[in-house]
Amino acid sequence: MSISFSEDQEHAQITTAAVLPEDNSEGSLRPRTLQEYIGQEKAKDNLKIFINAAKMRNESLDHVLLHGPPGLGKTTLAAVIAHEMNVNMRITSGPAIEKPGDLVALLTNLSEGDILFVDEIHRLNRAYEEILYPAMEDFAIDIILGKGPSANSIHLDLPRFTLIGATTRSGQLTAPLRDRFGVTLRLELYTPEELQRIVERSAQILHVGIVPEGSYEIASRSRGTPRVANRLLRRVRDYAQVRADGIITKEVADAALLSMEVDRCGLDAIDRRMLQSIIDFYGGGPVGLDTLAATINEDAVTLEDVYEPYLLQNGFLTRTPRGRCVTRKSYEHLGLLFTGQEQLEF
Ligand code: ADE
Repeated sequence: MSISFSEDQEHAQITTAAVLPEDNSEGSLRPRTLQEYIGQEKAKDNLKIFINAAKMRNESLDHVLLHGPPGLGKTTLAAVIAHEMNVNMRITSGPAIEKPGDLVALLTNLSEGDILFVDEIHRLNRAYEEILYPAMEDFAIDIILGKGPSANSIHLDLPRFTLIGATTRSGQLTAPLRDRFGVTLRLELYTPEELQRIVERSAQILHVGIVPEGSYEIASRSRGTPRVANRLLRRVRDYAQVRADGIITKEVADAALLSMEVDRCGLDAIDRRMLQSIIDFYGGGPVGLDTLAATINEDAVTLEDVYEPYLLQNGFLTRTPRGRCVTRKSYEHLGLLFTGQEQLEF
């Protein structure tokens, strides 16, 4: 069973937490210092202590693992750490490292104190992790040259560097790799109030007129994610310019978001289709993730990483050992009659 919803999909793109080409201009909106960085107070409090301690001892920062749903500012936070430590940052990602030589080249080109940022570190080839272990622990690598009995190994010392790994799936990291990070920070979905401050800061940078009710409207419909909030702000700005007098009010934001199919709870077409399909085809659940993904013609990993966190956190969906179930709130949100006969699990 597979349904095609191409028009919905086009609209739904606007609220995806995954990176879109238009997000490349996100750079100008990114905070540079911890003081400018809004939200993630727990992570920031811890970081401030570790950064200050490392600076006082004139040492490099311990390796840091950042984990949490996409779009919450893991790359931004790594760049902020580099700025606060006054060091350079090199950026790569797990899937970009295609051969051991790629990793060796990155490591040997680092300078003292530099940060190596590895995005999607859970997708790094397991065989290459072995190179990282001595690099992280002893700041050295052993390179094997040749094969068989004539093989030779060269020991190379590395500068003391900091590895910052980012992942949406810390459970997929091997234990030996996870254990080598001295600091692990979990990023959480942002509250509407935090997102409102981000929207207002971005509006100021973009010279967009916005009233507090307008920024709150965008913030509360951005599924807890700054990347989505900044994207919606740009689209609402377009709408305000063409359909209104350029100022983003609550009414302008609401009309613009509804035209993009972002509803009043911030759910987009894919969210609603997910919930509706569980109700229509599986009696409210439970249904396995792969089955659900096939039903709505979406990628299971995208559903799990991008869509589910917001639906789970906001009580639209529950995850049980037997699969996903919708809640009473989902029925109510979709305007459906909840009879109590559904196989609900809370
Ligand atoms: N832009 C994107 N993420 C941000 C954050 N956490 N603080 C301030 N501005 C941001």
